[in-house]
Amino acid sequence: MLILSMETSCDETSAAILEADESLNKFGLLSSVVSSQAKLHSAWGGVVPNLAAREHLKNIFPVLEQTIKEAGVKMQEVGLLCVTQGPGLIPALLVGANAAKTLSYFHQKPLLGIHHIEGHIYANFFENKKQGRLDKHSFPILNLVVSGGHTQLILMKDHLDYEIVGETMDDAAGEAFDKVAKILELGYPGGPIVSQKAGEAEKITREDMASLEFPRPMLKSKDLNFSFSGLKTAVLYFYKDLERRNLSKKDLEDWKKIICQKFQEAVIDVLIQKTLKGISEFRPKTVLLSGGVAANFSLKKELGEAIKKDRLQVKFSYPEMDFCGDNAAMIGAAGLARYGKLKEEGVLKKLEGNWRDLEAEANLKLF
Ligand code: KG4
Ligand code: ZN
Repeated sequence: MLILSMETSCDETSAAILEADESLNKFGLLSSVVSSQAKLHSAWGGVVPNLAAREHLKNIFPVLEQTIKEAGVKMQEVGLLCVTQGPGLIPALLVGANAAKTLSYFHQKPLLGIHHIEGHIYANFFENKKQGRLDKHSFPILNLVVSGGHTQLILMKDHLDYEIVGETMDDAAGEAFDKVAKILELGYPGGPIVSQKAGEAEKITREDMASLEFPRPMLKSKDLNFSFSGLKTAVLYFYKDLERRNLSKKDLEDWKKIICQKFQEAVIDVLIQKTLKGISEFRPKTVLLSGGVAANFSLKKELGEAIKKDRLQVKFSYPEMDFCGDNAAMIGAAGLARYGKLKEEGVLKKLEGNWRDLEAEANLKLF
């Protein structure tokens, strides 16, 4: 079965075609196109919803056309359409949802609305850039989802069975990276640039800089929740103080690198400690990292090492770089899992003509 999926929840217009085998377990990625608007939004220091919608509208059909062409398939051969239903920016979500509903109506194809975070989680079921299988991981799975809009620990006892066991009380981890980049005037999106500067700080040997330390919010709290807004404020005040000190250009550049390094250390430390706490509490067989921040090399490395050191029997995995940020391939993989379940329950008929009912939702709940 061919699955055509779409994703327009934030600032990436994306479409993909997956081919699932008869058992609806194994799947191959025939094509995947991601058109990023990051450059457009960087001038504003963040994503502007109406601008994003305008770009999605401009890009969605060329992206779909390219996706279908690269896969070498015909629209008539597609067996299932999937689209990100939410959460996300409503003007952006509406573009993908309306395109999917139109295709569903016009070509009489079943349509599934997919939760964006569910998509991020299912990015982990790819085995490489081209194929995946839904039986790749053993349950229970503890997911650490870290993106621009979410920071959550989600327990899965089985496919599509989610329990949010921890989440941020304020900013998401990716959002904190973006805000710190804004404070330090490093550009948007902040994650890649802050982690690059953090890497460059390794070479700096000044003691006054090395002793800088930022708070680890909620590290000692008994629950599995996070908070990153205080950490961002600590960076803001520290940087404001620095600006008053009339430092040389070189010193200020070095301080910025050190701030990035120490900020990243604090974020990673909290993410690791809370995940370890979640492992002790729920004893999962697998820990999966996902979301845009999963692209962070230090986070992957250090979380992997911490899990290995603490509990050898837990398997740790994270997505291919191509599937960390927003993309439609992950939406297709989650769609395959949902379709398989409906088939198993004998209720595939539910999907007929359901373009009428699908509505984009900014705050869609995961269940
Ligand atoms: O999942 P995603 O593409 O979009 C949302 O669903 O929000 O995540 C985007 C977030 C942004 O905040 C971006 O700064 C962050 O992921 N990000 C990173 C890195 N690459 C992207 N954060 C830390 N380190 C990175 N290397
Ligand atoms: Zn995302």
